[in-house]
Amino acid sequence: MYTGGPMRWVAKAMIQKGISTLPRGEAVNYAIQRRVTRTLPVPDNRLLLRVDVALNHVRHYAEHGGGSLESARAFELGAGWELIGPMTLWMAGVERQLLVDVEPHVRLPLINHTLERFARLHGEIEARAGRELRRVPTAPLESLADLERRFGIVYEAPRDARDTGMEAGSFDLITSTWVLQHVPRADIAAILHESARLLSPGGVISHSIDMQDMFAFADPRISVWNFLRYGDRTWGLFNSALHFQNRLRARDYLELFREAGLELVVERPYVPDDVSALEALDLADRFKRDYAFEDLMPTTLLAAARHPR
Ligand SMILES: C[S@@+](CC[C@H](N)C(=O)[O-])C[C@H]1O[C@@H](n2cnc3c(N)ncnc32)[C@H](O)[C@@H]1O
Repeated sequence: MYTGGPMRWVAKAMIQKGISTLPRGEAVNYAIQRRVTRTLPVPDNRLLLRVDVALNHVRHYAEHGGGSLESARAFELGAGWELIGPMTLWMAGVERQLLVDVEPHVRLPLINHTLERFARLHGEIEARAGRELRRVPTAPLESLADLERRFGIVYEAPRDARDTGMEAGSFDLITSTWVLQHVPRADIAAILHESARLLSPGGVISHSIDMQDMFAFADPRISVWNFLRYGDRTWGLFNSALHFQNRLRARDYLELFREAGLELVVERPYVPDDVSALEALDLADRFKRDYAFEDLMPTTLLAAARHPR
């Protein structure tokens, strides 16, 4: 067991708790991410990971959807800061996208930075897609209206994906990238029910979920399964609204898809080659009791679904 002083991730968790109680927590968090931790903009390798996820969303629609990408009405929930996924969808041919977020994170300088990077990385992104893609024009956006005019992308925040108030059957491709792991279970159920209502016949819902303990990225001394050591009460001391982590496993998400009346067409949990850190972990009782060891192993999940025919 580690005994050499306070763990870096615990300090990080406490700072996040503090920020989440501030009245302008979102703005403070943004300033810290840009100027202190420098986690925004994300480095190129993280940008390309998001591009890969978005290309998977596109493939899911091509393989399981009922129409062309060009005519698809796309909806992304939890759009975040940089709009990397939506720009990838645009490159792939999607003409109409609505993005929503409960927090208005988007900022024009970050989007303009994304445009420049997409231009620079065009060849790399095409290689990953395995086909030709539209070239992103780099002229800076001056307003969100430009985003709609040039890319057909409408951004609405704050808007809650649990209850959008939009018409049933409005969308053909509904996606999220690295969102659901930050949402409590009951809210995911509400989001999936609402998504099932918004989905057109022949439409596809595609979600990418990162189930790793995010604190492992700030502290090399813990593994991506570390949070499974803690019972719910102790975990509640570390978990904050700012970067809430629900700790659900792949099995739980697949169950939630089914409960929403969706037919799963893609189930791709990813298990790292080396799970020795999980084997060595002193699991909290509830993870020992309620899950088989194999259920705890996957670190990411890519899942897509449609309405049962
Ligand atoms: C970790 S960020 C992911 C951002 C982006 N998709 C990406 O790949 O960088 C999760 C986002 O989901 C949003 N979110 C959480 N719950 C939501 C909900 N019920 N409706 C809409 N957005 C939500 C958060 O505000 C946050 O911007």
